[in-house]
Amino acid sequence: MTRIICSAPGKVILFGEHAVVYGHPALATVTDQRTYVQVDSGAQRNTVNGHRMHDHHHRYLMTAVERCWMGGPVDIQTDGGVPSASGTGSSAALTVAAVSALAAHEGIYDYATIAQRSFFVERSAQGGGSPTDTSVSTAGGAIAIAGHGETLGLGPKLWSPTFHEPDQEDLRWNVERVSIAPMTVVIGNSGVRGRTSEEVAKVARAMQRNAMVRDTLQQLGDISRDAVPYLRSGDLVEVGHLMDQAHRALHTIGVNHPAVQGLVDAVRDLPGTFGAKMTGAGGGGSILCLTEQPERAMNAIREAGGIPFAVEVGGQGARLEDPELTVVEGSHAPKLR
Ligand code: PMV
Repeated sequence: MTRIICSAPGKVILFGEHAVVYGHPALATVTDQRTYVQVDSGAQRNTVNGHRMHDHHHRYLMTAVERCWMGGPVDIQTDGGVPSASGTGSSAALTVAAVSALAAHEGIYDYATIAQRSFFVERSAQGGGSPTDTSVSTAGGAIAIAGHGETLGLGPKLWSPTFHEPDQEDLRWNVERVSIAPMTVVIGNSGVRGRTSEEVAKVARAMQRNAMVRDTLQQLGDISRDAVPYLRSGDLVEVGHLMDQAHRALHTIGVNHPAVQGLVDAVRDLPGTFGAKMTGAGGGGSILCLTEQPERAMNAIREAGGIPFAVEVGGQGARLEDPELTVVEGSHAPKLR
């Protein structure tokens, strides 16, 4: 038996959600929430946290094992530090940590390979979606990404994830490194579950009917570009302004939700708030608030009916952990053994 433990972080989309689907840039960064995956080779059968691996309950892990693993049965233990269904990248963190651990068993620890395999696994398991989450969770720090193979020129190139759809031209994205100053942001989960595929389809329909939606997507991409120097220098006032602008633009393209707007309204005019926007696909999901008074913003989100958490962004991406590690994450009991 060989034991390998890897971990990978959650993410937030700072700017450019939806615009990225049409080749405009998006910026994403990692949070300090991490999911840990331990893979023991030489097991009797494939198990996850002591249960037989099941395609319904363990969709991402099963896809990872089926598509990225040539060895025998594996015993997998997970400790998910990234809250699920909140637009903060829990499935990507799980996928990247699992793919990293499986690759490390083969002696591979190359980020471009891990990013490509993780994207392949996530997209195969969920159908649709861009490599934003899996790439940033692998790379750490912050990234710029654009679809349609567009080159951005916002930072050093990292990799170009691709996906082959039968009877279609291969899909291709470009991912670049963007350096950002360390920041604390407050995330507020509305508790309303948005469906990424539905919101993406809604924008596609609106785009065909309405030139203003096309212009607004272009504007969202421009905001991503404009934000890069301010993120780099840590100019929170300017980043906050751009967040407010991006939120209005996302509202214009029809992906805002009353519960999400309620959270934005609750934090927007608080002392210490630089800016606030929805993050991710919308139709529910979470907001992102840039503030120098995180406690105040968290209380306001709670009072408005949301679930708040403060995260540090821009930290480490996927990493190999010491196999002797015992994980005790926040309220999580140590589940890895
Ligand atoms: O809701 P999330 O965090 O999965 O973000 C979706 C971002 C979109 O741009 C709307 C879709 C995509 O795949 O890029």
